Order: sequence, then C-alpha cells, then structure tokens
Amino acid sequence: MTAQTIPVAPFDLVVFGGTGDLSYRKLLPALYQRDQAEQIVGPSRIIAVSRRQMSDDDFKAATREAIERFVAPEDRDEEHLASFIDRVSYVAVDGAGDDGWSDLQAALGQNGDCVRVFYLAVNPELFGPICQGIGRHGLITDESRVVIEKPIGKDFKTAQVVNEAVGAVFDEHQIYRIDHYLGKETVQNLMALRFANALFEPQWNSAHIDHVQITVAESLGVEGRAAYYDTAGALRDMVQNHILQLLCLVAMEPPTSMDADAVRDEKLKVLKALTPIDEDNVDRLTVRGQYAAGASAGGAVNAYAEEVDGGSKTETFVSIKAEIANWRWAGVPFYLRTGKRLASRVSEIVVAFRPIPHSIFGKDAGGVVANRLVIRLQPDEGVKLWIMIKDPGPGGMRLKHVPLDMSFAEAFGGRNPDAYERLLMDVVRGNPTLFMRRDEVDAAWRWVDPILAAWHSKVDSPKPYTSGTWGPSSSVALIERDGRTWYEDVD
Ligand code: BG6
Repeated sequence: MTAQTIPVAPFDLVVFGGTGDLSYRKLLPALYQRDQAEQIVGPSRIIAVSRRQMSDDDFKAATREAIERFVAPEDRDEEHLASFIDRVSYVAVDGAGDDGWSDLQAALGQNGDCVRVFYLAVNPELFGPICQGIGRHGLITDESRVVIEKPIGKDFKTAQVVNEAVGAVFDEHQIYRIDHYLGKETVQNLMALRFANALFEPQWNSAHIDHVQITVAESLGVEGRAAYYDTAGALRDMVQNHILQLLCLVAMEPPTSMDADAVRDEKLKVLKALTPIDEDNVDRLTVRGQYAAGASAGGAVNAYAEEVDGGSKTETFVSIKAEIANWRWAGVPFYLRTGKRLASRVSEIVVAFRPIPHSIFGKDAGGVVANRLVIRLQPDEGVKLWIMIKDPGPGGMRLKHVPLDMSFAEAFGGRNPDAYERLLMDVVRGNPTLFMRRDEVDAAWRWVDPILAAWHSKVDSPKPYTSGTWGPSSSVALIERDGRTWYEDVD
C-alpha cells in the first residue's frame, strides 16, 4: 500500500528470545521492511539476545535465512538485505540468571541518548526476571521502553503478577503491551471510518444497528504449539485480547483525540460495560468447541485431542453473544466467534443495520434487505457497504442488494505492511495508542474469568466439530435462536 515514510529516531532494539519463532517469523522481517523503506536510519541496531551461545556471524546467517524465508522475493533486494544484516548482532544472556549481562551492557555501550527498546519475545514467566536483570544492570535510560507479548497471565490474578513484575522496573508509560491485531491496517481503518466520516456516527447506536458480528476464523490448527495452546484455549488466546480489542474499537465513544490515553480511556469504558457471563447464563450465551478429524487447509487432518497427550477439554472454538450495558448499545448483541481448523481463514467485522421501518415497494420488487457494513481484516482487506439499488433495466422496479466494494489492494495496490511493522515503529516513536494499558488487560480478564470459571464448573466437554466446518452446530443455534444468521460473503 502507498505510504508516506517518516524516518524514526535512531534506536537500539534488544530482542530477548531473539532466536525464537516470533523473532525470525515476524520481528526481523518487519524490521527489514522498515529498513528497506528507509524508515530506519542512522546507526540503529538490533541486538538479539538468548541463552544459547552463538556467534554474531551465525546470527547474521540465521537472519538472512529468516528474511529469505518470510519476506516474499519481490519485496526484498540483496543490497538492502546486506545493509540490514549489518545492523544485527547477537549477545548470549541468561535472562533469568547473571550470565552475559555485562556483555549486553558493553554492546549497548554509552549509546544512552538514543531510543532503547527491550522486546521480550519470551515465555511470560521470564518477564519479571528479565526486567529485574535490565534494572539491576543499569540498562534503563530516559528513552527506554519495554514491549511485552501476550499471554499476559492466564487470568486476572496471574496477570497482576506479570504486570507487577514488569511495573516494578518500568513505569506504565514505558510499557508497551502488544496486541498485533491493533496494528492491522483495517483495524486502524475502523477508526478512520467511524471518526473521519460524518456518515456513520449518527447511525452508530441501538436505534439503527441491529447487531454486530466479529469473526476471527483460522483454517490452521495449533501447528506445534499444543503445549502452550492446551493451557490457554480459544477464549484466552483470541477473545481476551484480539477480539475484545476489536469490539472496543467498534463500540467505544468517540475519543476527544488520537492521544493514547484518550483512546484507551474509551476502550476501557466498553470493557467495563460488558454484561457479565457466569454460571447462570453461560450455557445460553457461549458455545465452546474442539476440532475433530476432518479436512482443512487442503488435506485430511487429525483431531485436536490426538495432538495433545491424554486428550483434552481445551476449546479450539468459541462463540459468544456479548452485550454492552450502556445507552448506545443496550439491546444490540455482539456475536463473537473464533476458532481453529474452520472452513476458511477470514477475519471480519459485520455491522448489521436495522431494516427500514416501512417498505413502499410492492411484492414484485423483491425484499428489502437491511444495510450491512463489512470490514474485512484478512484476507483481501477492505470495506463493503451493502445497500439496496434498483436492478438496472426496463423490467420495472426490482430491487437488488449490492456492495459498495472497496478492496484496499485494488484501491491502493502495493504491499500490505504487516502489523508488526507499524507497531514496532510506534514503540520507537513512543506512541502507545495501539498498545494495551494495564487497566484494559485487567478489565478484559475480569470479564473472561467468570466465563472460564463457569465452563470449569461444568462436567461437559467442548462440543466436537469436524475440521473444515464453521464450528459446532450449537454455534449456529446461538445466533439463529435470535432470528439472525452468521454472515457469509455469498450475496
Ligand atoms: C495469535 C494467537 O495471537 O494470533 C494464535 O496466539 C493465532 O493462536 C494468531 O493463530 C492469529 O493471528 P493472525 O494475525 O494470523 O490472524
């Protein structure tokens, strides 16, 4: 996509877990892209850190391999790759112990004026010890920030432990809790759509909106992450963070500005207004499922239970009817659904408007279908506004439901930058608008915890669903009970 590139100030980025999957798959490719776009300038450096002994040259070779693997050939060039690789280096540090810290100190040197980012791409159990190490070794400068990845705890209580540990060393304004969904182009577009157009905001309430659907469907399974995933499940892995963040952006009141706290204050109010789901209503308002064998992502696949030792009650699918108890949204259901091994990979937000109050058209014209705004996050990012028009031709007044269709790829062309590109540059710029503040994480857990507790108190297991379908039939029933259906882009 076309983008104006404003260079960021020179920085040192220290990646703990620098030889891990996230670093190779996402962080290094994202930094490479920003470097190639000349947004990274001057003496900026990327220092990968992990426990294992490795030479600079070996890490440089591993970086080259990662870029060649995860950046499309048409998006890279040899000259840039060589100069990007000059920026990377490696230091072996035992984050939980004492070894290697003096080497990191030496690597950072006296470069105290430039922005210093510590990215913790490690198991959350290490967040505390690594932050203590950073503090103990005097590595925090005025321009330092720390980035932490989810999962931030597995419930409210454990999230407190993580946040306290990081907060003991860094001030809240220095802590960047990343939710990569907030860096997706279309997610930011949601704010542009809502607040840069006069058209939608007057309609954006229960008087005009019938319901909202948020779907984040994946066709892949847990892909070798069963050890983590089995302790998390879809509710913790996707709903507590990504989906609730999307819901907040749809439902929040207009912030007074794009200032980080102005936006986050509004999101927080939405999270606090979510109607509680607990033992009393959990059966009516939630469905949890687990994938059984089937066909998905182009081939026959095993059941989830076969991927984890000794079977499992962990949900790989969840759908929820959520409600927001405030003046704007009372009575407007937000249907949320996410799962692995579903029929296709698609993430989208559907805002379904109410039907017109009275039709002036006769039976021959065909039915009048309610307007719908579909914001597609992936794949094929774009926005569709479904409206009624007259079917062209002399055949009398026949109505047709058609989309005003804006595909971002067609409109802007070019490459769609990965969420990490935007978010990493925001960290360097010191802009936390697209990162979660501690009280947001807390509020999200406060809503999620009673659902988990209610499920836990039940003897039944998640409902099995065949891989390659849209989840258990009870998920269809969850919405159809209300006389609505899950949206499918087939009209
Ligand atoms: C991660 C989850 O946060 O998001 C994964 O832990 C999930 O389980 C992933 O697959 C989905 O991200 P994306 O950007 O591919 O939709």
